[in-house]
Amino acid sequence: MQPPKTVSLENLGEEPYASILCYPRANPAEIRNRIEELRLHGVKVLEFAGKAHASNIPVLGKGYVGVVVIAHLKGQRVALKMRRIDADRTDFKHEAEMLQKANALGVGPKFIAESTNFMLSQLIDGDLIETWLETHREKELIRKVLVDIMEQCWRLDKSGLDHGEISKATKHLLVDKDNHAFIVDFETASIVRKVINVTSVCQFLFMGNSRAAKILGEVFGQKPKSELIGALKNFKKNTNRQNFEGLLEMCLGA
Ligand SMILES: Nc1ncnc2c1ncn2[C@@H]1O[C@H](COP(=O)(O)OP(=O)(O)O)[C@@H](O)[C@H]1O
Ligand SMILES: [Mg+2]
Repeated sequence: MQPPKTVSLENLGEEPYASILCYPRANPAEIRNRIEELRLHGVKVLEFAGKAHASNIPVLGKGYVGVVVIAHLKGQRVALKMRRIDADRTDFKHEAEMLQKANALGVGPKFIAESTNFMLSQLIDGDLIETWLETHREKELIRKVLVDIMEQCWRLDKSGLDHGEISKATKHLLVDKDNHAFIVDFETASIVRKVINVTSVCQFLFMGNSRAAKILGEVFGQKPKSELIGALKNFKKNTNRQNFEGLLEMCLGA
C-alpha cells in the first residue's frame, strides 16, 4: 500500500490518483470534467488516507458505487464520495435526497453538497463498527453506542425511510473518535419500501455470524436465539415503542 498523500487539484490528473478519481480507470476527458466539477465545489485538495484502499492507494472506503476520500473544503476536512465510472447510478441525486431526509432525523453524516460525480458530507473520523468493537471493551460504553444505533434505526423506521443495506452493517456503521455512531451510505435507501432498519440491525448485531455478533455475545452474554427471535417477531407484528424497548432490553439488558 502506498503512503497517505495530499494531492492538489492541479495534480489530480496524474496517475495513480487519476484512476482513483475516475475509478477504476481514468480517461482524459472524464478527468478534466471531474477536476472542473471539484473546482466548482470549492475543493482545493484531496487527501488519500484511510484504512481501506483502492488500487493500492489508501482511501476512507470503497463500495460498488463510490470511492470515498478526504477533501479539503473551506478550511475543513470533509468526506468526498466519488462516483465510480462503472457504477450503475448516473448521479448522486437520490442519495443526496435520502441523506438529507436522514439528517432531518439526526441520522447520517451531515450532507454538504452533491453533483453528478461527487457527494460531499461530514467526515466521520473513526472506525467501522467491528474494528471499534475490537478496540473498545467497556460494557457501558458499548451499550451506549449500540442503543444509539438502534434508536437511529427506530427513528428511520418511524419516518418510513428504509436504509436498504443495514444488513451489510459491517461497512455502514461507523463510530467516530468521540464514540458517536453514524449510519452511512443512503444510496439504496427508499421511502416506499417496507422499513426493516431495526430488525436488520438487530439480526446483524445479535444473531448473525458477524464478528460483531460474536464480540457482543462475549460482552453481554449469549442470548437464547429463540427468545431473540420471539422479541423480533413481536416487534414486527406490533411495531410500537414498547416492543422496541423490549427488544433493546432483550439484546442489551444486563
Ligand atoms: N462520511 C464518511 N466519513 C468517513 N467514511 C465514510 C463516509 N462515508 C462513507 N465512508 C466509508 O466509505 C465506504 C464506502 O462508502 P459507501 O457510501 O458505502 O459507498 P457505496 O455506495 O459505493 O457502497 C463506507 O463503507 C465507509 O467505510
Ligand atoms: Mg456502501
